Amino acid sequence: MEYRIPLIAGNWKMFKTGNEAVDAATQLVKLVSDIENVDIVIAPPYTSLAVVSEVIRDTRIDLSAQDLYWEKEGAYTGQISASMLISAGCQYVIIGHSERRQLFGETNDTVNNKIKAASASGLIPILCVGETETQRDEKKTFSVLDKQMEKGLEGLTLDEHHSLVIAYEPVWAIGTGKSATPDQVQEVHAFLRDLVEKRFGNMLAKATRILYGGSVKPDNVSELMTLPDVDGALVGGASLQPDSFSKIIHF
Ligand code: PGA
Repeated sequence: MEYRIPLIAGNWKMFKTGNEAVDAATQLVKLVSDIENVDIVIAPPYTSLAVVSEVIRDTRIDLSAQDLYWEKEGAYTGQISASMLISAGCQYVIIGHSERRQLFGETNDTVNNKIKAASASGLIPILCVGETETQRDEKKTFSVLDKQMEKGLEGLTLDEHHSLVIAYEPVWAIGTGKSATPDQVQEVHAFLRDLVEKRFGNMLAKATRILYGGSVKPDNVSELMTLPDVDGALVGGASLQPDSFSKIIHF
């Protein structure tokens, strides 16, 4: 029987100074010390990565960045490379979050460059895909997701040393308190797994974790986690408080 270790990731977005991030991570370490069968990831802002990595050293909690730039180094003011993230303690990097796509000009092409750079460096990319409300209303959900996956993963080669995490985040459910229904989530996740299988084969499709994101809270996480193709959650707002994030991790 196939088994994927659940993964619960917290995206702290542009919240918390260094001290606040250290405090939250310190509390979280205590709250999840009993957890054995869930992988936990937190994604603080760049400025807190190195200090948080010290706090979570030798715990079950891994570190993620919220973005990266694909070049190795160079005159790219304001950008951060994969090797910089690794030296700050990261194992994961979120790529193509809808806020980056909507507010900062991220396209499927830039997502693709970032995915390839992350994967080549040994970081595990968390590729975010998702449709807007208008796209869902116009019945374009599956074509939008297909394109985001097709273009985002184009030219990527994965072997047994590389993994990939996909996060399905319907844009209309992010930060709105309006979570997608279990039926909507399962339908999309099965579709996404199928796309992974077509591109990378059955073994990888079975091993790839597909997270749901969009208003995940302590009171809706358990139902989502019962769905066969939901392997975890990417949590925004509810990951900022160690208490509520810990409840989600204890789904
Ligand atoms: P939310 O954010 O949990 O606050 O809806 C999810 C995300 O943006 O990853």
